[in-house]
Amino acid sequence: MSTGGKPRVLLMHPILDPGPAILAEAAEVLSFPSNLSLDEASIRRAAEGCVGIVTLLKDPVRETVLSTPGLKIVSNVAVGFDNIDVPAATAHKVMVTNTPGVLDDSTSDFAFALLMATARRVVEADYFTRSGKYKGWEIDLMLGHDVHDATLGIIGIGRIGRGVAHRAKGFNMRVLYFDPNPLVGEAAQQLGATGVDLGRLLAESDFISVHVPLTKETLHLISTPQFALMKPNAILINTSRGPVVDEAALVEALKAHKIAGAGLDVYEREPAIHPGLIPLPNVVLAPHIASGTIRTRSEMSAMAARNMATAVRGGRPPNLLNPEVKR
Ligand code: DGY
Repeated sequence: MSTGGKPRVLLMHPILDPGPAILAEAAEVLSFPSNLSLDEASIRRAAEGCVGIVTLLKDPVRETVLSTPGLKIVSNVAVGFDNIDVPAATAHKVMVTNTPGVLDDSTSDFAFALLMATARRVVEADYFTRSGKYKGWEIDLMLGHDVHDATLGIIGIGRIGRGVAHRAKGFNMRVLYFDPNPLVGEAAQQLGATGVDLGRLLAESDFISVHVPLTKETLHLISTPQFALMKPNAILINTSRGPVVDEAALVEALKAHKIAGAGLDVYEREPAIHPGLIPLPNVVLAPHIASGTIRTRSEMSAMAARNMATAVRGGRPPNLLNPEVKR
C-alpha cells in the first residue's frame, strides 16, 4: 500500500548514507524520528500498510510482526539475524535479508582490539594514568599477558573467525579452531590453523575468541563446564552474540580466578550488562561496536537498502536468507 505510487517501507531506525537515498528511490520511506527500541506489537502497528521493514538487530521480528498483512520483506542491517524468526517468515512468505561480508574485517579488527586491550590492561592503565595514580616506573606495574607466541583458540571458523586467525599470524600465535565444519584443502593450509575438538581448544588456549551465530545449538556454548576446562591465564573474547556465553557462569569464573579476563562486545540481555561484570577490572566491556567503523556501517546500510530496493521492485534480493519464499 502507498500514497504516492511507490510501495511503502518502514525504516525502524536511522541508517547511514547512501542507504536512505537507495531506499527513497525505490519506496516511500516511513521513518521513526528517533532510535527507539520497540516491542513486537508496536513494530506491527507501525508496519501496517508497509511491504517492507528495515530493522536493526535489536528489533524483535517474530510471528506478531511477520503476520502483518502485505508484508513482503524484512531487511536486517546486520549479518546476524537471531532477532528474526526466519522459519516463521518463510511460513508467511516474507523474505528476510542480512548484510554478510562487508563487516568481516572490521569485526575481526575489533576482536583483536579487545584481545589486546584485555591482555595488556589498556583500559585499566588509561584510568590509572588519568586519575593521577602514575607516580613513576615500577617493575611490577600493571603486568599483563603476552599476546605474541600465545595460543589462540577460535570458536567458529567462518569469515570473521578466519579474519581473526589471519591477524594472529602477525603475532606469531599458534592458532587452534573448533568448528563442526572444518576447513579443508588450501583454505586450511593458508590459514595455518589446526582444527581440534572444543575440549582441547578450551584446555590449550591462552585466548579464546568466539565467532559463531546464535542458534539453539550455540546458546550457552560456553558455560560452567567449559570454564572449568580453561587455563587460569585464559582470556575470553566475545564479539558474536551474548547468549553464546553464559554470563552468570562467566562472572563466577572471573571472580573465582578460573580464567584471567574477558573482552566483551555483546551481552546476554542487551543492552543490560550483568551487574557482576561491572566492578571487575580484568574485563573490557564495549557496547556492541565491533562492526562500528564509518565505512563498514555505511556499507551495511547500503547493502540492507539494496536488498530492500530489489525486493520492492519485485526482484530477488542478493542476500536472501530464505530463498524458498522467492522461487
Ligand atoms: C551483526 O551484523 O550481526 C553485528 O553484530 C553488528 O554489526
